[in-house]
Amino acid sequence: MCGIVGYIGSKNCIPVILEGLKRLEYRGYDSAGIGFIQNGSCNVIKNKGKVSLLEKKIYESSYSPTIGLGHTRWATHGEPNEINAHPHYNTDRSLVLIHNGIIENYQTLKISLQKQGYKFVSQTDTEVLAHLIDSFLKKGINLFKSVRLALAEVDGTYGLAILYDKEPEKLVVARKGSPLVIGIGEGENYVASDVSALIAHTSRVVYIEDGEVAEVYSDRFVAKTILDEDIVKEVHQVTMTLEEIDRGGYETFMLKEIMEQPESVLNSMRGRLIYEDGTAKLGGIDHLLDRISKTKRFIITACGTSWHAGLVGEYMFEQFLRIPTEVEYASEFRYRNPIIQPDDTILFISQSGETADSLAALREAKRKGALVLGICNVVGSSIARESEAGVYIHAGPEIGVASTKAFTSQLVVLALITLVLARKRDMSLVDGRSIVNEFLKIPEKIKRILELNRDIEKVAENFKDSKNFLYLGRGYNFPVALEGALKLKEISYIHAEGYPAAEMKHGPIALVDENMPVVFIAPKDSTYEKIISNVEEIKARKGKIIAIASEQDEHIGNLADYVIKIPDTIRMLMPILTVIPLQLLAYHIAMKKGLNVDQPRNLAKSVTVE
Ligand code: M6R
Repeated sequence: MCGIVGYIGSKNCIPVILEGLKRLEYRGYDSAGIGFIQNGSCNVIKNKGKVSLLEKKIYESSYSPTIGLGHTRWATHGEPNEINAHPHYNTDRSLVLIHNGIIENYQTLKISLQKQGYKFVSQTDTEVLAHLIDSFLKKGINLFKSVRLALAEVDGTYGLAILYDKEPEKLVVARKGSPLVIGIGEGENYVASDVSALIAHTSRVVYIEDGEVAEVYSDRFVAKTILDEDIVKEVHQVTMTLEEIDRGGYETFMLKEIMEQPESVLNSMRGRLIYEDGTAKLGGIDHLLDRISKTKRFIITACGTSWHAGLVGEYMFEQFLRIPTEVEYASEFRYRNPIIQPDDTILFISQSGETADSLAALREAKRKGALVLGICNVVGSSIARESEAGVYIHAGPEIGVASTKAFTSQLVVLALITLVLARKRDMSLVDGRSIVNEFLKIPEKIKRILELNRDIEKVAENFKDSKNFLYLGRGYNFPVALEGALKLKEISYIHAEGYPAAEMKHGPIALVDENMPVVFIAPKDSTYEKIISNVEEIKARKGKIIAIASEQDEHIGNLADYVIKIPDTIRMLMPILTVIPLQLLAYHIAMKKGLNVDQPRNLAKSVTVE
């Protein structure tokens, strides 16, 4: 959710922090702020809205501090205005603090602090932390210890960074439930909620774990647990490059990421397919294959787009493995005391690897003794690290808030897992090889679909003023209908619903009239005849029909108002293709409405609060 960045060293920290905040803006953009120490005292500059506004405000001043921190906010407690923007001060303004997460017992703490005379200026839960830490500092306790003592009283989640003008040679950071990394430089160090904010400066990072607090100096850092135990931290080398997180000439990150899919999908398969054996090799789960292939039940747990990928995974696992598979919203799974057996395998799918509900569900599953596997994009993320084993999707950094290339890469990895396990169970070599061949053709087929970009843009032109949309699909393409509707909702703010096509008759058809666009995902597969009947039903009620159809379909053009024809593949892999026109359709509708597709309102890329 919120983005955190900090610097300590010998150069002016303001450009470093502003640049880091711009890279983190996808995590939240309700307000932005920077705090620093100069001439022995703390200062804060902040505003409602984007980092670009903050930048203007800062460059009207003449500060050049060498220690500071910055924050870009996705509001939870308190409306997105300047007062609630981070950083927050303590009362005498000797301390500034930024926070990502939610302090659940902030009301109780606030009342107790008010009784001690503390005055609050914001509506945030975060301000409580500034005063709580202050209450320990006032007793003559140093900052590092005061933070640990304060956090011992806190329920909830936090990634925190703090400055204190009486100890101006350090930043203190802490983590519980919200990601934090330290970037190691030469005579300078960085902190951030996300590696992408640091890689312009260093590729050496230290991941702070839950329950850990660190003092970061310009030339070293010291980490402890909240309970004051010493810990030794490992320095990791990250491979992400700056080019990967730039727009690369595209107008938006979202378009860049849609267009990257031939490459990102290829990267998800690269080095993994083995044609001779009609299978794949997935290093991350290789050692567990015997156990996984004998699992009695799969549970796939995720949120949002990753949950939609999980639904496609259910079709794959049940078709090829004949193992019962359930797909759960992580937010429901974590709280409803799920029945988990020792021979269940639970897969957690998450692009960011930091989604709070998915991470909490993973911990709950581990507590109950299940085999827990992660399918993540962000290397070294919490879900990736806390899973027993897993498979990276290798889609590359995804910055656009609307997930696109991560979805197609998640589908590739789920299909690879299916292939590996099916070959271990009862799939023949011949069938395995023909699936490998289909995999290999996918990147080229995606390229052909992307060539339809202009045609899809023309279709979009007709729908930018629509108020509602229906997306209908069957079988493997039912989750694609959900994903198409989600894409449209989140970036164009048009109300859209995804349904299994046959379910439409049980209610949603009442919505259909000449103003209702209905997107059918209708490739020529075993459900084709059925879905054509559904198309007829919509046509009879004058709905506007947009069909995603197979190249060789000569019939559907007689029924649909607009047809987008795409290449075919086997059913299991078809969602990787059918979703792409839907991503482009949503994209162009939103752009024609003049909206910011990379930073849609109210959203954040990675939801690290409940
Ligand atoms: O990082 P995750 O895959 O765990 O994120 C899950 C959802 O928050 C995410 O897919 C969200 O729904 C996207 N904005 C969809 O485009």
